[in-house]
Amino acid sequence: MQDLDRLRAEALQAAANADSLDALENLRVSTLGKKGSITGLMKTLGQMDPEARKAAGQALNAVKDEVAALLDARKAELEEKALDARLASERVDVSLPVRPETTGRIHPISQVMDEMIAIFGQMGFEVAEGPDIEDDFHNFTALNFPPEHPARQMHDTFFLPEKEDGSRLLLRTHTSPVQVRSMLKSKPPIRIIAPGRTYRCDSDMTHTPMFHQIEGLVIDKATHMGHLKGCLIEFVRTFFEVDDVPVRFRPSFFPFTEPSAEVDIGCSRAGGELKIGAGADWLEILGCGMVHPNVLRHCGIDPDEYQGFAFGMGIERVAMLKYGIPDLRTFFDSDLRWLKHYGFLPIDVPSLTGGLTR
Ligand code: PHE
Repeated sequence: MQDLDRLRAEALQAAANADSLDALENLRVSTLGKKGSITGLMKTLGQMDPEARKAAGQALNAVKDEVAALLDARKAELEEKALDARLASERVDVSLPVRPETTGRIHPISQVMDEMIAIFGQMGFEVAEGPDIEDDFHNFTALNFPPEHPARQMHDTFFLPEKEDGSRLLLRTHTSPVQVRSMLKSKPPIRIIAPGRTYRCDSDMTHTPMFHQIEGLVIDKATHMGHLKGCLIEFVRTFFEVDDVPVRFRPSFFPFTEPSAEVDIGCSRAGGELKIGAGADWLEILGCGMVHPNVLRHCGIDPDEYQGFAFGMGIERVAMLKYGIPDLRTFFDSDLRWLKHYGFLPIDVPSLTGGLTR
């Protein structure tokens, strides 16, 4: 059994020296595998006489077990080393920020719309939408603008080319056509707000041909002017985050509301700085009124059974007031430096519980 001693010594030495899992596996095959050296010795046992076989068998088994145990131990050791090496090479520094700085910003118009949706949403309003390209019926006729009435010109409408039947589509001049669409689509009670783009052929310091409005409409059986006032006062105070901002309802005219009012908020211009809140001045921010019975009739709603109120507000206007943006036209310059200054981080999602503005 000199062979066995030599084999044992060689195998143990090789196992201790194996420096990779592959080398170790090769060693296992060449010693304990089907054609391995130790397995080969096992096969010689059959030719021995019983006495010798017993002694040789025991010795052989002992060596086999010893080599197998060493191979297992070495395998565990190499596996752990391999894992350590992998962990070291794939190390991630979780303390590193993703990017040095987030460059994208939410445009103040989008942010203000989200703030308004958060406030009116809390009051139970749903968001409604209508198309930017409207027809005469939804933009004017259903809203009680008489045919050829100067109010139609007053809006400086962008018309599309005339169709064969003489009618012309147009770019909506206000969000009020969404009132009509909502009333035609669903039965009262109705409580919707509709933010969106509007268009008028007008361009100077304080007007851009495209701008944004938010429309509000409430229709129910016992809705009155008190509800309108309460709703808008609550909105203004929440939106401007000033609890005691003075609010004034001034009589006005719109074909689609009767009575109609314009709403002013108190401000001061002391020291050349515009501040929302108590002061000597007033700023107009929106138009509103009780929905005209003719509008309800055009939309298939019985004015003897239902009343409601509506309001429309310019979004750029209140965004400028709230965030101190001095020039309207900069909203649409697509100047990244401007957006970086006046824009909002994508994580600043407005909500009444989380804060409108952080
Ligand atoms: N649509 C009106 C405008 O653009 C605003 C308004 C809406 C007034 C709803 C009264 C009611 O000026």
